[in-house]
This record gives sequence, structure tokens and C-alpha cells, in this order.
Amino acid sequence: MDPLKDMREYIQWLEKNNILIKVNDELSPILEIPAFLRKVMYSKGPAVLFEKIKGFENWKIAGNLFPNLDLIKSTLSVNNLEEIGNRMIEPITSPIPFGLLDKVKALGEVSKLSSYFPKKTSKAAFTENIIDGKDNPLEKIPFFKTWPNDGGRYATYPMVITMDQDKKIINMGVYRMMIIDGNKAVIHWQIHKRGALMHMKAIESSKEEIPIAVAIGSDPGTMLASVSPVPYPIDKSLFAGIIRGKGIELYELDNGIMVPSNAEIILEGRVLTNKLVEEGPFGDHWGYYDKPIEKYPLFIVDKAYIRNDPIYFGSVVGLPPLEDAVLGKAIERMFKPIMQVLLPEIIEINYPVEGVFQGMLIVSIKKRYPGQAKKVMSALWGIGQSSLTKIIIVVDNDVDPHDLGKVIWSISCNVNPERDVLILSNSHSDALDPSNLYPSFGSKLGIDATRKMPEENWGKPWPKIVEEDEEILRKIEPLVNNYLKKVQNNPNYY
Ligand SMILES: Cc1cc2nc3c(=O)[nH]c(=O)nc-3n(C[C@H](O)[C@H](O)[C@H](O)COP(=O)(O)O)c2cc1C
Repeated sequence: MDPLKDMREYIQWLEKNNILIKVNDELSPILEIPAFLRKVMYSKGPAVLFEKIKGFENWKIAGNLFPNLDLIKSTLSVNNLEEIGNRMIEPITSPIPFGLLDKVKALGEVSKLSSYFPKKTSKAAFTENIIDGKDNPLEKIPFFKTWPNDGGRYATYPMVITMDQDKKIINMGVYRMMIIDGNKAVIHWQIHKRGALMHMKAIESSKEEIPIAVAIGSDPGTMLASVSPVPYPIDKSLFAGIIRGKGIELYELDNGIMVPSNAEIILEGRVLTNKLVEEGPFGDHWGYYDKPIEKYPLFIVDKAYIRNDPIYFGSVVGLPPLEDAVLGKAIERMFKPIMQVLLPEIIEINYPVEGVFQGMLIVSIKKRYPGQAKKVMSALWGIGQSSLTKIIIVVDNDVDPHDLGKVIWSISCNVNPERDVLILSNSHSDALDPSNLYPSFGSKLGIDATRKMPEENWGKPWPKIVEEDEEILRKIEPLVNNYLKKVQNNPNYY
């Protein structure tokens, strides 16, 4: 199918495929809708469209738009999400074409990349209603309060767009925003993210303001691109095109920021680089209210653009697994092929959802030389957002990282703690990790649960894993099955 045009087309598609609940009861965005969304998500439920919003006539609210991985695959028309990562690396990892036919085919592959480029447009439905910042547009939008002790209302899926002013590269990241009043908010871009990088660059060149825009509600591919850890300076709008399989359309705002033309809501404004204000508390995806309260930059909204009959989208986090767990899994699958190009020994990866992504990664490797597991940990702690992972467990290639029983078995049998545990003290860490010593500063743990080579094992070979004798098994198996059937067919069995 053609890439979905915008969030409305996505919602229609969800409805057509019976993956949408429409709620007619009037509910409030203050605590009620967030609690509803969490309940549905914990029951592995579908997407939800709230049609009557207390205090916000004419608005609808969409939630749980990413309820499971299969749905994301269908929406993006791929059989597996690894295909998306492969779109990025195929041109450089495919065999060199020598014959004419192969060369023509390879050219076709390379030219596919150009179809992912964004296009500029002068039309955008969100220009249907324009509200000046002085008229307090933020009061008119049904932002959530997600937990009772949150410090206020929050935009929980705002796609915050900044541009590198020298290179014109588009950054687009989901960073929650605490609403202060009708035209001010605080943007929670953590120090390791691209928004914070633009902030730092602006301070270094003595700029007092950065032009920014916030987009809410777009097509699923663009929304997924916004939460993806694409390293700077790769343009995020290009990555959105790679995910969708077709370039997105960009509309240039008066402040020069290019935004997805299909957004439901656009907030145009500026961040005051030297004005930091307290943000929080907020019940975050670790399942805790953030502590301590930190300061983040102030965003002044100069203009808001809103479509007719607008639909707001917010995600809700808390004790895992919620919607962000599905998004995280989608990212895991999309980025696995890219990790494998950087570290070819990687066979499979698993960020367990309860590990909230920055908490734990299990990775299986095909080990060729002593010390390779620690090399893999060090590399992962050195690249992009995988560097934020607190605990990395490395297992052998014959252990599936998704089989947690086998992972525990590997740790229990293969780890000699004195030799196989690596503690990286005083290192950077995820800003929200409740165990941090200071904001964004903690430590890391690596566990090498691979079987050891003699060089890693005081010169001794590793013992052999027990294996059944094939011939004996062939004789025993039918007998066992017969005896088992007899007891299992007994109605009083267990
Ligand atoms: C629902 C949701 C909320 C998020 N909130 C924040 C946030 O408040 N601050 C932050 O730095 N990252 C947040 N993230 C993670 C970023 O979106 C993610 O790290 C993304 O890669 C950031 O974009 P960037 O790599 O271009 O900076 C959130 C992710 C999700 C799914």
C-alpha cells in the first residue's frame, strides 16, 4: 500500500482493520484519558480514539497508535522492520556489480535513495487556523496530565524540530514538554539528544534564541522517525522518508523551520538559550517520578497552527510495558542491521521491555577471539544512544537473547564474576535513570556470559555441553511419547 498520508488516514486505516476503539463517553485529558490508555495497553489492546473531550469541544484525542509490532509492520508495508535499516546500508553493503545488468540493477537501488528525500510544499492543512502566541494557544489544546503528582500538563509526543543553522540539517526528536501557560512550555531535551546539541551550539556562537517548531500528530512513519536515535548529522526528515519508503513533504514556517506538512498541530516559536526553568516532576517510562527536578530551556510559542476538527495525539508512559515499549522494539528491529555493519560479530539483540531500553541490552555474538565480548560492550557504550545502556549482557551465538531462561542459564554457568564482569564507574547515563549519582551520571555493568576460550580461562579448555546420543534418542522418544500420552489423557492428570 502507498505510505499513509497523515494521522487521519492512519486512524481510518486502523478503524477499517478493526484495530481501533472509538470512545463516546466524555473523558478528561487530566488523568482520565491517560489512565484509560494505560489500562488498554496493559491488556494488549488496540488504538483508541476519544470523541468527546471534557473542556475541549470539537477536539478528538488519539492514543495507543503503536499498540504492537505487527501493526507497525503492516502500516509501513514491510515484512520485517529490519528491511528499513537495510534500506540505509544496502547501497554500501551489496556485492560490487561487475556485469552490465548487475550495474543497472545497482543503479536502481541507489536511485531508490533519492525517492526518500523530502520535498518542499507551500500547502499545509494546519494553516486552516492560525492563533497568535498572545492569544494563549496552549490553553486551547487538550494536553494530558498523565500522573497525579506530575508538575503540570504535558505534551507527551511533541516532535520538536530544530535546524542546524549552518548546514540546514533537520533535527526532529520527541522530547516531552511541560506546559507553563498559554504560550510557554519547557522542553525536556536531555543532554545527549540532538535538540540539546543545537542548544549548545547556539550558546557557543552567542545566540540568545533558537528558532524551533513542534509538530503534533503526523503519519506513523514520521512519528516513528522522531523517536529514532538517528545520529547527527543525518537529516531526520530523510530518515522519515526511509521509514515510509517515500519522502515526506515539508512546509517552511516564517521562522525558517521546516515542518511536516501533514501535522495536526504546529507550534512555531523560539527557545531562549539562557533561560532554564524547573521541569517536573513527571511519571516517566522507568515507572518513577523523575528525581531530582532539573532545569530545561524555555520555549516561547509565537504562533500555533491547528487543522479544522483537530485530533490531538499523546503517548502515555509509566511502569513498563506501555506504548513506548512497542516503539522501542520497532527501533531495536530497524537498527539491528546497522549495528551489525558496525559490529559484524553481532547475531541478535534484545532490549527487554522491562529494561526500559536504557536499562538493559542482551546481545549474542559469534566469538572468534578472546576478549571479544568486552570489545562489543565497549563499542556499544561508545556509539549513539546505545551508549546510554546501563547493563549489557553478551551471550554466545547459540543462545537466543529473547529466550531469557537461556540467558540466565548462560550467566549462571559461564560467568566467573571476578573475570567476566566489567564495571564502568563514573560514566554518562540516561538522564532519567533513578539510580544515577548525579543527573545523567552513573555507572555501567557489562556481563560476559559467553563460554570462555583457553586464553580467557587460565589456559583451560571450556567443558563440553552435554548432548544426547542420537541413536538412543530415536529409540527412546516414541516410548516416552506413548507413556506420556497415557498419563496426560487421564482426566485427573495434575
Ligand atoms: C513517548 C516518548 C517520550 C520521550 N520523551 C523524551 C524526553 O522527554 N526527552 C528526551 O530527551 N527523550 C525523550 N524520548 C526519547 C527520544 O525521543 C529519542 O531518544 C529520540 O531518539 C530523540 O531524538 P534525537 O536522537 O534526534 O535527539 C521519548 C521517547 C518516547 C517514545
